[in-house]
Amino acid sequence: MRSTLALNDHWYYHPEFHEGHLGLGLDLKYFEAVRIPHSVSNTAFAYFSETEYSKLSTYKRALFIEKAWESEQVRLCFEGVAHIAWVYVNGVLVKEHLGGYTAFWVDLNDHVRFGEENQIVVKVDSHEQVNIPPFGHVIDYMTYGGIYREVSLEILPKTHLKDCFIFGENLLGDAPELVINTLLERSNEEENTLFDLEVSAYALVLGSRERESETTIVSEQFQGLGQEGSFRIPLKNLKIKLWHPDQPQRYEVCLKLKSKGQLVDEWSACIGLRDGVFKKEGFYLNGKKLKLRGLNRHQSYAYVGYAMPKRPQWHDAKILKDELGVNAVRTSHYPQSKHFMEACETLGLLVFTELPGWQHIGDDAWKDAALLMLEEMILQYRNYGSIILWGVRINESQDDEAFYRKTNELARRLDPTRQTGGVRFIKKSQQLEDVYTFNDFSYNGKGGALPRTKQKGIEGKHQVATDLEKGYLVSEFNGHMFPTKSYDSVLHRTEHALRHAHVLEGIYEANDVAGGFGWCMFDYNTHKDFGSGDRICHHGVMDLFRNPKMAASVYASQQEDSAVLTISSDMNIGDYPGGYIGSVYAFTNGDAVDLYKNDQFIKRFEPDRDIYKGLPHPPIVIDDLIGDTMGLQEGYSKSKADRVKALLLAGAEFGADRLPLKYKLKALRLMVLEGFKLSDGVRLYSTYIGNWGDAVTTYRFEAIKAGQPIAKVVKSPPQRVELRVLRDTDTLIEDGCYDVASIRIQSVDEHGNILSYDQEPVKLKASGGIELIGPDVVSLRGGMAGTYVRSTGSGEVGLLTITRMGLEPVELAFNLK
Ligand code: GAL
Repeated sequence: MRSTLALNDHWYYHPEFHEGHLGLGLDLKYFEAVRIPHSVSNTAFAYFSETEYSKLSTYKRALFIEKAWESEQVRLCFEGVAHIAWVYVNGVLVKEHLGGYTAFWVDLNDHVRFGEENQIVVKVDSHEQVNIPPFGHVIDYMTYGGIYREVSLEILPKTHLKDCFIFGENLLGDAPELVINTLLERSNEEENTLFDLEVSAYALVLGSRERESETTIVSEQFQGLGQEGSFRIPLKNLKIKLWHPDQPQRYEVCLKLKSKGQLVDEWSACIGLRDGVFKKEGFYLNGKKLKLRGLNRHQSYAYVGYAMPKRPQWHDAKILKDELGVNAVRTSHYPQSKHFMEACETLGLLVFTELPGWQHIGDDAWKDAALLMLEEMILQYRNYGSIILWGVRINESQDDEAFYRKTNELARRLDPTRQTGGVRFIKKSQQLEDVYTFNDFSYNGKGGALPRTKQKGIEGKHQVATDLEKGYLVSEFNGHMFPTKSYDSVLHRTEHALRHAHVLEGIYEANDVAGGFGWCMFDYNTHKDFGSGDRICHHGVMDLFRNPKMAASVYASQQEDSAVLTISSDMNIGDYPGGYIGSVYAFTNGDAVDLYKNDQFIKRFEPDRDIYKGLPHPPIVIDDLIGDTMGLQEGYSKSKADRVKALLLAGAEFGADRLPLKYKLKALRLMVLEGFKLSDGVRLYSTYIGNWGDAVTTYRFEAIKAGQPIAKVVKSPPQRVELRVLRDTDTLIEDGCYDVASIRIQSVDEHGNILSYDQEPVKLKASGGIELIGPDVVSLRGGMAGTYVRSTGSGEVGLLTITRMGLEPVELAFNLK
């Protein structure tokens, strides 16, 4: 039967290619032993250029092919090689593959010697000048290089199920069906044989590939299967649970190919059954309208670019789902790792995936390569129910009728069940796709202070879309409109968060907009033409290590599963020009926020529904740090307290000597009619607002939901610095491939608040069976840093020691399996 062997170890790498490398035997004197996933260069955190990975390089490996496999089909699977691969077997070129973002297979039978050691050489071109997508012009992301996704050897029966496409049809109607399309590869002897097909399906435990029970929910037999087959199984009365981000129910569908009662081949896939469609009024999942709230994701990581194995890919999906609380992701701007796709399907994230490319369309050869990549993407991923849209236009390219007729036709032919989209920045451009997917960067923050700005977060669908009868989706927003570093000033970071909230509000308010994907999940390294000069696009709501910026809380606070409360300010007057804190924002999924100052209740704040009409959980504006306390403590009447408070707040905003006339008149009135003195003003200001040189003031914010506190944040001048270290696992498992743990390091105060201006160096030391990816000293940036540790394949334990100057080291032990 089928088997798959991981081939990620025992590779040798040379940063150049010479014809001599094709020579038989492994003369490895000048080669370096490497493990796959591998990047042709280890890059710096920032300030590096594409020349570092622009190479023609060589990978080499010995491969023993068993004698017993002679009667089978033997093939290599490369999940991703950036960007052109030539695979040589025993010195002979057997495959050229164009494109770094899709998997490809290399049949070996005619090229290997069975029962002997064979030699595999892969020549890899990672120059950006190659004439294939996404290259040809500038690109806003690094494209890296190498055999950066896993490699395996597959041994299959000569006659086997080559390609199967399984989906649900009419799932909401009265005759729902499971459709199974098969394509066979038949050995010469079996060219005319007709086979039997046995289909069985099992429900899976949520979040895993384990079966709920061994009882089948579907069990059917079909006869007379030839080269191609299409079968339908009625699902009525089977109590099928449809896949949904809130309940990503999956089924394992197993196909048994038989001939005269004998098992010939077995194939299985875990699939989600769902009905997803974009209509003119929005996106409907299983018949119910669902607003898509997502982020764009690149597949890059610090230091190693694209080369990360399974766990970090899953980690990103978990962050999107659990920390950022989104229901959708766009894999900008290319198909991503199968691990990431599998994670989205398992955890419950809707996916918009697209063919590789960025603004540029090349010549005919380039377009042919694009069509091939599109085909590979769809064939590779069409069994994933989580995918709701194929992107069939080059991101932000011009119209090209002939080309885009072909991409649409290809996508619809390979997958008639899914709609097409194509991301553009041009309004009213030619629409051959089912959904108009538009990058809406119209919101530029002008038009008054946030959040009271009159400017809409997005443009109206009618202003942009070509065919108003079709679906409409905002595929990007913000990004370059307001790059934000985690170490920017608090005012800048607050505006970044509010801009995301503002555009999301626009998307929620517009009934005919299916949803939107913010630009973007995390910062990424880029070319000189973009980014901040440091070759980083600081466009993320998280940093390169996936540490959250303030804007992350805007997304996180829209979900209902876990309580969120982030306060935009650390309440340090010295962080603000003129010492004026002004309005503070709470990003929370509570209904209200209670403010306490030194344990005294000040006021309850609620969302302003005149401003935020659509967003499930808008930022709550906290614009009064005095509340009723002054009136009560000073024994003022309500009216007098309100008038004095207004004056004090104006004083804080404008400065006492620059008070607008209207406040000057109010002050005069208080003085003349009520005997108020300038010295009273100074005293009240310093007591209730300034806290200048005052004893420590402690602000406590409590998020309230249904009358109960659900989350608390305490802000006071930090007394202590601590390291908070978050890791995605304490156990690294080598299962055919090395494993990587992602470590996030955050400097926090005694209340757990991130110390945004801590930039101290942190020393990292890995020992035992783990090694660091990246340098052994990193700087905190905006109080946050990170690292990755990789299993080395030896030992049972590993230890990572993290030391920030002045603090006790933090030790993390890892079990190695
Ligand atoms: C878009 C582009 C993205 C990214 C973004 C930055 O135009 O599609 O790749 O560059 O701008 O805001």
